[in-house]
Amino acid sequence: MLNFSYHNPTRVHFGKGQIARVAEEIPADARVLITYGGGSIKKNGTLDQVLEALNEHTVLEFGGIEPNPTYETLMQAVELARKEKIDFLLAVGGGSVIDGTKFIAAAIPFEGDPWTILSERAKVKSAVPAGNVLTLPATGSESNAGAVITKKATLDKLAFGHPLLYPQFAVLDPETTYSLPENQSANGVVDAFVHVIEQYLTCRENSHVQDRYAEGLLLTLIEEGPKVLTQPQDYDVRSTIMWTANQALNGLIGQGVPHDWATHMIGHELTALYGLDHGQTLAIVLPSLMAVMKEQKKAKLLQYAERIWNITAGSEDERIELAISKTREFFEQMGIKTRLSDYGIGEEGVAKIVDQLKRHNMVKLGEGRDITPEVSEEILTRSL
Ligand code: NZQ
Ligand code: ZN
Repeated sequence: MLNFSYHNPTRVHFGKGQIARVAEEIPADARVLITYGGGSIKKNGTLDQVLEALNEHTVLEFGGIEPNPTYETLMQAVELARKEKIDFLLAVGGGSVIDGTKFIAAAIPFEGDPWTILSERAKVKSAVPAGNVLTLPATGSESNAGAVITKKATLDKLAFGHPLLYPQFAVLDPETTYSLPENQSANGVVDAFVHVIEQYLTCRENSHVQDRYAEGLLLTLIEEGPKVLTQPQDYDVRSTIMWTANQALNGLIGQGVPHDWATHMIGHELTALYGLDHGQTLAIVLPSLMAVMKEQKKAKLLQYAERIWNITAGSEDERIELAISKTREFFEQMGIKTRLSDYGIGEEGVAKIVDQLKRHNMVKLGEGRDITPEVSEEILTRSL
């Protein structure tokens, strides 16, 4: 096991009726900015619950944060927050709203152009405190310190993170997710699945605890994930998925093990260029990445085949190939297509994506830093 220091300071309030807790989490004299997306929280009653809980607080609102949140939109919120002397941010929505709010939190006190936090890795020295009410289980953003922001003008989708950006609290009420459209529920299951895989399916480490946690999450997603499509109003199903997606990327399973974020990095370029949903990009890239990297990941792929898919017969290569097919079938079963051609992207797209990866210096990806642009090209070609 590798060395690590672990601390996750986000307090999680999980379950029905927990939105009321925001009142006690936010200082009574705070000037609060509620941030949200395109309006789903108005339609499903989440915003009303938040406003009722905060009826004794000073509250302003900023809506319109888009999926894959953009610097351009977020800077409008920064301007408003500076003018109104906002000192607490409350994100209400999915990963995009929560990520966008992390950027706003870091940008408000930042001197200079906040985009440099992403483009030049400029240091975040302070951040406005923030909490969130999650409405889409997928990213784990509600209790991690990372965010992914897009600059529309230049087609850059870049990630950043800082310990100051851990949300102070996260409210996870599964009932807020009943209104999710099928495709977003499915995206969330795929995203959580791939988060686990990228911290699990690497080179073999002596990481028995992390492996068993990861396998528990993967099996849960395979067993319970399809039920969000057929039983969208089932509290038990929704709560299982919400807690699983949180655990997939709240930092715990990734301690002491190598990571491989190549699927995500290649996926971000697909979103930046073609506007695909984050979950769709992962479903396209992961099966091909597993195939191209099967020698490097052999031991873990065999473990994955046996423990997740019960595959014990056949040669090593046959077992691995079958596990990869099962993975692809699972994504397809969730209704998420796994080929570039399913989204109208052909060979010309492969070259464009590889150029973007080079432009963003994503030239040594994977746990072994051996996913070069040539290897990414091979992965994408296999995904056509
Ligand atoms: O904007 P509204 O109207 O709220 O609608 C949203 C949006 O259209 C809708 N939605 C959310 N909750 C709903 C709902 N509709 C009905 N009922 C509800 N309860 O769903 C749509 C997608 O929302 P979005 O927030 O974009 O989805 P998601 O949570 O999948 O977030 C994706 C973003 O997170 C980043 C991705 O790159 C992408 O930009 N990620 C962030 C990570 C992190 N911070 O750790 C890790 C992830 O790997 C990921 O990269
Ligand atoms: Zn993700």
